[in-house]
Order: sequence, then structure tokens, then C-alpha cells
Amino acid sequence: MMRITTYDEKYRPQFHFSPAAHWLNDPNGMVYYEGEYHLFYQHHPNGTTWGPMHWGHAVSRDLVHWEHLPIALAPDHNGFIFSGSAVVDWNDTSGFFSGGSGLVAVFTHTDTYPGTERSRQRQSLAYSLDKGRTWNMYEGNPVLAEEHIDDFRDPKVFWDERINRWVMVLAAGDRVRFYSSPDLKEWTFSSEFGAEDGSHDGVWECPDLFELPIDGDEGNKKWVLIVSIGDNPGTPEGSRTQYFVGEFDGMAFRNGNRSDTVLWLDYGRDNYAGVTWSDVSAEDGRRLLIGWMNNWKYANSTASGVWRGAMTLPRVLSLRSGPDGIRLVQIPVKELQRLRLWSDRWDGLRIEPGQNPLQGLRGNQLEIEADFEIGDAGQFGFKLRKSEREQTVVGYDVRSSTLFIDRTKSGTADFHHEFACRHGAPLPPENGRIKLHIFVDWSSVEVFANGGKVVMTDQIFPEPASTGLELYAAEGAVKLVSMKVHTLKSIYSSRDPAAVAR
Ligand code: FRU
Repeated sequence: MMRITTYDEKYRPQFHFSPAAHWLNDPNGMVYYEGEYHLFYQHHPNGTTWGPMHWGHAVSRDLVHWEHLPIALAPDHNGFIFSGSAVVDWNDTSGFFSGGSGLVAVFTHTDTYPGTERSRQRQSLAYSLDKGRTWNMYEGNPVLAEEHIDDFRDPKVFWDERINRWVMVLAAGDRVRFYSSPDLKEWTFSSEFGAEDGSHDGVWECPDLFELPIDGDEGNKKWVLIVSIGDNPGTPEGSRTQYFVGEFDGMAFRNGNRSDTVLWLDYGRDNYAGVTWSDVSAEDGRRLLIGWMNNWKYANSTASGVWRGAMTLPRVLSLRSGPDGIRLVQIPVKELQRLRLWSDRWDGLRIEPGQNPLQGLRGNQLEIEADFEIGDAGQFGFKLRKSEREQTVVGYDVRSSTLFIDRTKSGTADFHHEFACRHGAPLPPENGRIKLHIFVDWSSVEVFANGGKVVMTDQIFPEPASTGLELYAAEGAVKLVSMKVHTLKSIYSSRDPAAVAR
């Protein structure tokens, strides 16, 4: 790839995936095969705004360091390449692999109905005989079309051994549809879900469906259906992702909660279109998700450089039962710990208003693990990426039991009037404690609270010199049971983190 970046542009993420250049949106086709995690993504290779969609491509052996590869899928006579998934066809059900195995991508081809302006979205296949390095379009494309449905896209496919068939879930207007197939080529409609369930604030997109044990008990599992919902200019949240927990029998999904229950994957503004990796090995066993760290509300105009767009950190998903029912929990993948460069530790500190134990510490590539015992403080938390003019607050409001991010003064925000905002998530203390696990990069902050029960992912665009760090308490004192602050290495070369003073 032509070197048009030095990976040190003003807002370039230093440990999140971003394209070398040009536009990125949804993660696509994530699959693990022969030691490599593949990450494809919606890509416009000739601009830094959304445009004719291709699949960009990168691979990683550790989910942290990525090697950019050439564009995998480019538009052809069937149209542009929208989102979709990839699977390993282990038993050559498709017949593409002469009895061996290989990768098959299942994605949406989009064009217009001949002689009209009406958009047409159909599902297609491409396959690779060389571990994803080159791709062949299937000559029988498209493999699935429904003329009466306009928004009909983002197929996610997996093998369901109970029915001995591939299952496809895809978005259809403001609901999802399920199909099944013996060979990835012939698809039969099974059922539809969601017309009356969950949030319908926007068009449904990028579904995913998988089974997870509850509280780690392999004998007690539930199915999780993830659905992203598009921007609705009438909501401050913009595009965001909901999920359902229930049963799936190979043909139909049954919601285990009341139909008006809405569960959010992430309470931040910038985690969209996230789906999970296929074919992670059984001995690994993790359900790994990555999302697009952006929001359709302002995605085309964020402060950026030769590229625009990045992914969230990869996360491990699991199900936990609690007082409100069964909920999805997310934690960052453990591989990220390899980026830790220096670590400092504090134990048993009482933080009074006006004190800042982090004074003197600076950083823009940080990981913070903090365990608080709520004392009599009204509010406590961290001010990150701080300077005289800028700060991003990750705080906890005790009276309302709300975790919040305040990015009103986080830096450049003039590209959209709703970007500079404070938003929150309900977070009850557990045994009087609040645990925060925070990642700070050059243009983002991610918070995993109380073991990942609540997650907030937000973009921020601070000046590079805004590297101050503050731990604060207001309206009373808070007890810091323990805290670790890690300075993180960049995933690019051996460059040291910028602006770190110790
Ligand atoms: C979600 C989405 C998908 C679509 C793709 C187009 O962000 O709108 O539904 O396939 O982006 O780039």
C-alpha cells in the first residue's frame, strides 16, 4: 500500500484500528482462520466521506496489531459492496474448495432496479482459495433477493448443526429475517422477528446472532440477537446498537424479555454496526465483537486527516444474570495488556475535593483501572486529555447512580452541533463500589464499568498537548480502594507514547 500516512497525524488512533487512508465505516466479514483474525470494513478508497463501498481488509494475529492488505471486494456489475460476514466453509458445502476448506464472504450487493432510481439490495457470495488474500465473485450472484423489501442487507451467517444448515440473519426494514441454506447458495426463508420488539428509532442494520452461556455455565445458554439502529435526527443518540436475549431454534428467534424492553450494547455515542468474529476456535471459545467507533449523525464530518473512521477496541462478550435479568457484559480483550509500558499503583486513598493524586502524570495513551468505594462525595471520576481549555470527564454521579461522559469541552466539536454533549448510563453500585476500566487514545475514550456491565465509547478530538490527568471528588470525599494507571505503547513501530512525564 502506498505510504500516505505516518500514523502520527493529529487525531490518529494509536491502539485502535484505523485505515491507512480514506474512509472506513462498519466492520465486515470478521473471521478467524489459520491463525489470523480477518477484519474487513466498509471502505471508500477514493475519499474521506462515505461513497462507493468496497471491502477494505486487514489481518492480525493478536487483535491489536494489524497488517493492511489490498482491497478484498470491489464493486462489479451487481453493484457496490455493503456490509456482510465471512465464514470458514470447513466441509466445502459450497463446492468452492475442491473438498478442502476456505473462506466465503456473504455480503450485500447494492445497485438500482434497471431503468429506475429505486435502490436494490441483494445478497451475494465471494470466496477465497488463499486465506483471504484474493477473492473470486461467485458467478451465480446474487444468491438472495426479495423485491418487495427496500432495506434488505447486512447478512450474518453461521453453521447451525442442529438443523445441519447455514443460518443467515439479515436486516429487512425495521426488523430482521432468518433464512437457511445447505450450501450458502440456495436460501430458504425461515421467519421474521422484531416488528413489535425493541427500539424502532431508526432502520435496523447489521444484525448478529449467537449463543452464550449464562454466568459461564455451559449447560445453561441463551441466544443473543444484536441489531444496530440507524440515525434518527430526532434523537440525541443518533445511530446505536440494541440487543435481545432469548431462544433460537434454528428457524425462529423468541424474545425472552417483554417486547418493549430495550437493551443497549453501549451507552456512549460512538459504537455502531458492531458484530462478532466467526469461527474463533473452540479452545479459545471467546465471542469477540468489534464496532465502528462513530455515529451516522456526524460520521462524515468528524475532525480527521488522510483517513476518517476507526474501530472500537475488540471486546469479549458474555452473559450475566442479575436483578434485572440476563444482560450482555463486555470486557476488552486481554491481548491489549501487551501494550502496557509503565504502570503505577495506588491503594487506599481518601480523595477530598481539590486533591489530585494524578497531578504530574500526563498521557494520551492510557489505561486506567480504578475501584472506588462511594463515600460522601456527590460526584467523582477522572478528567482526561486535560489542558487549560480542554478536558473530557468520565464521572460518576452518586445521587442519580449515573456513569457519564462529558465531552462538552473535549476539543474540536464544531463539525456537529450535537457532538459537544454530556450523556450517561444507569450504573448501580455493587457492594458500595464502582469500578471503572478506561482506555484513552488520541481521539477516543472507552469506559468499561463494573466489570463491563455498562460500557461507554466516545470519540473526542483534543489538542495533542492536552495530556493532563486528574482524579477528582466533588461535594464530599470518595475512597479509592485501588487504582492502576498504565501508559500504553502505540501499535505503530516502537514509537513511545507522546507527552508522558513521570
Ligand atoms: C450501517 C450501514 C449498513 C450498510 C453499510 C453501508 O452503518 O448503513 O446497513 O450495509 O452501512 O456502508
